[in-house]
Amino acid sequence: MKPLPGFRDFLPEDCAFRNAIFATWREVCRRYGFVEWDGPVLEPTELLQKKSGPEIVSQLFNFTDKGEREVTLRPELTPTLARVVAAHAREFRKPLKWFSIPQCFRYEKKQRGRLREHFQLNCDLIGDDSLGADVEIIALAIDLLRGLGFTPNDFVVRLSDRAFWTDLLTAENVPNERWTELLQAIDKSEREPREKTAEKLGSLGEPVFKVLDGGGRSEKLEQLVQKLAQRGLADFAKIDLSIVRGLAYYTGVVFEIFDRKGELRAIAGGGRYDKLIAQLSDNAVSLPAVGFAMGDVVLGELIKGNPVAAQQLDEFVRRESALDLYLVIAKEERRADAMRQLQQLRDAGWRVDYPMAAAKVGKQFQTAESLGARATLLYGDEWPAVKLKTLQSREEVLLPNEEIVQRIRALLAA
Ligand code: HAM
Repeated sequence: MKPLPGFRDFLPEDCAFRNAIFATWREVCRRYGFVEWDGPVLEPTELLQKKSGPEIVSQLFNFTDKGEREVTLRPELTPTLARVVAAHAREFRKPLKWFSIPQCFRYEKKQRGRLREHFQLNCDLIGDDSLGADVEIIALAIDLLRGLGFTPNDFVVRLSDRAFWTDLLTAENVPNERWTELLQAIDKSEREPREKTAEKLGSLGEPVFKVLDGGGRSEKLEQLVQKLAQRGLADFAKIDLSIVRGLAYYTGVVFEIFDRKGELRAIAGGGRYDKLIAQLSDNAVSLPAVGFAMGDVVLGELIKGNPVAAQQLDEFVRRESALDLYLVIAKEERRADAMRQLQQLRDAGWRVDYPMAAAKVGKQFQTAESLGARATLLYGDEWPAVKLKTLQSREEVLLPNEEIVQRIRALLAA
């Protein structure tokens, strides 16, 4: 039996890779003063139907539960976040700086960079409507990728403004109920033949193509880039009004991050959504918000294709998974002594393994090597001393067994 299409098994190596990404995400979020939270995997279908864009709604993993409720596996976290913040906002000092790493589910056509489940880092800054908050969120998105070893040669943040487009629709007297459909057409324009977009836009084609062909200017976005420049991050971003974002709730600055070569799907996307929380509040909470999500699938491809990032991640994985010590039990009579020390060594915090059944000494050393142990402790004829061997230098020393913990602490710290 195979996993369902678009779902992944995470073997230990894949899990280690994933955890290394998560660890970097958590570390960079911490530097920005963000705290972690989470919500339920399953939500009422109504929440997502009302609050995500039509594209996501057509991809919902939804069903009726045994209590006859219409439920959906979360396709994204933002509606949940808005629901939670609307309910608990008064308990917290603003602005909130929250991050989360949910697994999300979308019934998409399986293609490169798009699966039916993925993990997403979500970072959201709630309760601040200034451009400074937009800058902080975009700087965080950039630093997350810098933290993984990427440079301006590897990725670009394409900055746009949903308000620029809704202003244009207002100026062109387009009725409100057509906005979603038209914004979707603009959003898709890069991936579709021009004639198809023109057909969808109708009389709006001319002013929209003028902007898409480089004829639009946004002072807000220029200021944003200037503020990124103050932090030395301007090389990572460019203004690109063709970005609209497929999701319905954005109201202001929006952005997507792509690989520089333009070979992959978006690595991350987000923007400002100032009305969503109020829409979900039944106690008149209204808070501006800005945030983004970065998926693990495209990012994984980008890392694997980039020697610097791949090496950095490999080193992390090796550090995290290597054993500190392997106990070699050369004489079965010493097994009980070894087990007593195994317990002490593990209590002291080291990662220690040993053979659970009698085995040849040579085989035990091979196992120690293959598990990446830094050193072995041999329990045999030397008892009450134990022979410590550092596997890289091949140096050996005899240690009195009662001093093992202190001596190893000094040795492994070196
Ligand atoms: P989104 O653009 O739909 O935004 O997704 C964000 C990122 O999740 C994408 O750029 C992509 O890396 C990844 N992603 C999305 N769908 C898939 C898929 N089927 N397979 C693999 N990766 C995928 C949102 O979800 C917004 N809620 C982001 C946000 C947070 N806006 C404000 N706060």
